[in-house]
Amino acid sequence: MKDICFATNNAHKLEEVRIILGGRFNVLSLKQVDFAGELPETHETIEENSLEKAEYLFDKLGIPVFSEDSGLEVDALNGRPGVHTAHYAGDRNAIRNMDKVISELSNESDRSAQFRAVITYMDESGPRQFEGIIKGAIAPEKMGEDGFGYDPIFIPEGYDQTFAELSAATKNTMSHRKRSVEKLAQFLNSLN
Ligand code: IMP
Repeated sequence: MKDICFATNNAHKLEEVRIILGGRFNVLSLKQVDFAGELPETHETIEENSLEKAEYLFDKLGIPVFSEDSGLEVDALNGRPGVHTAHYAGDRNAIRNMDKVISELSNESDRSAQFRAVITYMDESGPRQFEGIIKGAIAPEKMGEDGFGYDPIFIPEGYDQTFAELSAATKNTMSHRKRSVEKLAQFLNSLN
């Protein structure tokens, strides 16, 4: 099985991606490749931050790597929190982040939103990017305990429960991460 390093310090993302790619690729964590530092995220777009993380890690390790940058884009907020999703309320506190979005939508009838993920695969041939989107709506309040980040306030299209109420297996059939990772898997398979 091909080894590939996932450039993330987010344990939830690592777990989701391992389940999606499990059995097909051996997804190495940063710990497994003895990388202990922070990954840079200095740009104002998800695409650029994703590219920056992959380039940085490939430069350090010299083995095939992929990174993932993702965010919640709310229509009535002109795409915010977007690239600032992880620390929208000032720090990385998921409850405060969600409360901020709920409060900003308090007078809005349009609650449509999407999660978007951009994966960058990088090897000696250069970078390749793969996007995944799941459309849905922001719930009126936080609902459900599972998942991470904004899962308790995101209701995917076609469902009436949030990602945090749906099972992890159900989320993994449709999420932005699943969709971007499947494109990566197809690309990796085409290399062989
Ligand atoms: P990043 O680590 O800079 O890509 O930050 C992305 C942020 O988006 C995460 O910290 C979460 O807050 C949020 N996010 C990304 N994917 C998901 C998801 O699947 N569920 C809930 N929140 C997510």
